[in-house]
Amino acid sequence: MSDRLILGKEFGEFAGSKLVELISEETIKNRIIELGKQISEDYKESVPIIIGVLNGSFIFFADLFRELDIDAEVDFIKISSYQNKTQTSGTVRLLKDISCDVSERDVLVVEDIIDTGLSMKFLKHRLEECNTKSVKFVTLLTKDYTSPPEPIDYIGFTVPDKFVIGYGLDLAQKLRNLKAIYSLEQE
Ligand code: IMP
Ligand code: MG
Repeated sequence: MSDRLILGKEFGEFAGSKLVELISEETIKNRIIELGKQISEDYKESVPIIIGVLNGSFIFFADLFRELDIDAEVDFIKISSYQNKTQTSGTVRLLKDISCDVSERDVLVVEDIIDTGLSMKFLKHRLEECNTKSVKFVTLLTKDYTSPPEPIDYIGFTVPDKFVIGYGLDLAQKLRNLKAIYSLEQE
C-alpha cells in the first residue's frame, strides 16, 4: 500500500486526486509467473528477441524476463503518444529505435498498457518492415473498451477505462515506482 494516496500540488490539475488500488503487488507477481510459463512454452523452439517499449514497460519487462526459462535476447524501443497528459495525442513518434537485427527473428513486444491500440499498430508496422519472422505482443494491461488493430497475444489484466498509474505507468513522468496499479479518481 502506498502512503501517498492523495496527490499533492506538484500534480497541477490532478492535485487532490485519489489513488485507488486496482491490482495489488502480489496479484501482479502471480500473473507474471503465469505469463512467463505460457510464453516460455510458446517460444521453446525459438530464441526470440524481447523488445521493451520505453518508458512504461521497464518494470514489467524486467519482472517478466526473469520468469522466462528460454534463451532470449533483449532490446528496447522508445515511442511517445502521450504528452505529459492523460489523453493520447493521436500521433506516435519514434524517440529511440531498436538497435538489433530483427530480420527472420521471432519478436515479442512488451507493453505496459494497450489503450487505443495506436502504439501497437505503429510498432507492428515498424517491426514488420524489418522482415521479422513473427511479431507478437504481451501487455500487462488493456482497458476494457480497447479494440486493438489485431488481437493481443498475451494480456495480464483488463482494467476499467480509467487512467491508471504505478508499476512503471506514469502520470506526467511520476509515480512509476509505486508497486501496485492504481486508478486516479478525481474527488
Ligand atoms: P495507445 O497507443 O493508446 O494504445 O497507448 C499506449 C501508451 O499510452 C501506453 O504504452 C502508455 O504509455 C500510455 N497510456 C495509455 N493509457 C495509460 C494510462 O491509463 N496510464 C498511463 N499511461 C497510459
Ligand atoms: Mg508506453
